[in-house]
Amino acid sequence: MGLTIIREARLSDVDRVTELFDLLNVDAIPWEYRLTPIYVRALVERRQCYIAQIGGNTVGAIHVRPVVFRGLEVESISVDPAFQGRGVGTLLMRHAATVAVETYGANRLLVGSQDDYDAAEFYLRIGMEEISDRAHNPNARFFQQQLDT
Ligand SMILES: CC(C)(COP(=O)(O)OP(=O)(O)OC[C@H]1O[C@@H](n2cnc3c(N)ncnc32)[C@H](O)[C@@H]1OP(=O)(O)O)[C@@H](O)C(=O)NCCC(=O)NCCS
Repeated sequence: MGLTIIREARLSDVDRVTELFDLLNVDAIPWEYRLTPIYVRALVERRQCYIAQIGGNTVGAIHVRPVVFRGLEVESISVDPAFQGRGVGTLLMRHAATVAVETYGANRLLVGSQDDYDAAEFYLRIGMEEISDRAHNPNARFFQQQLDT
């Protein structure tokens, strides 16, 4: 596998990022949360979206959002099924942690995993700590990583 490059998404990446995030649009997701091109374009304009490229192909995407108490939340992460299990997701999460500290001055990276996806084991595998609160959201698990600032 070639070198994986992680960079901020540009407007020219919107269609491909939408395709990658479309993998997350499972039936259980209400329409207002669906990752449409207009939504993805707004994320790119807000500079909250990053992509992974291998040999010029965009194979993964992540988007982040600053939240309360100096947190940065990973809202969505998606890796092309043909490239899963090769470290791309780990690199995207590492990049989000770097952006959290350097761009947002955050001290925590947060992510929620809806039960409709099976990503919870991935977050644990990369060293995140579970902080689930089923009372708050009975259909999801939550994870955090403390960041050195
Ligand atoms: C979850 C996802 C982003 C992980 O990306 P990836 O590039 O496949 O992850 P990596 O290759 O960096 O995996 C790191 C480790 O986690 C493990 N892992 C990855 N996804 C896993 C999963 N769904 N369940 C269990 N383990 C997983 C890998 O096997 C690897 O383990 P290793 O270190 O022992 O080899 C990717 O599989 C994906 O896009 N899934 C579908 C969409 C999704 O569920 N997104 C999250 C909800 S927003």
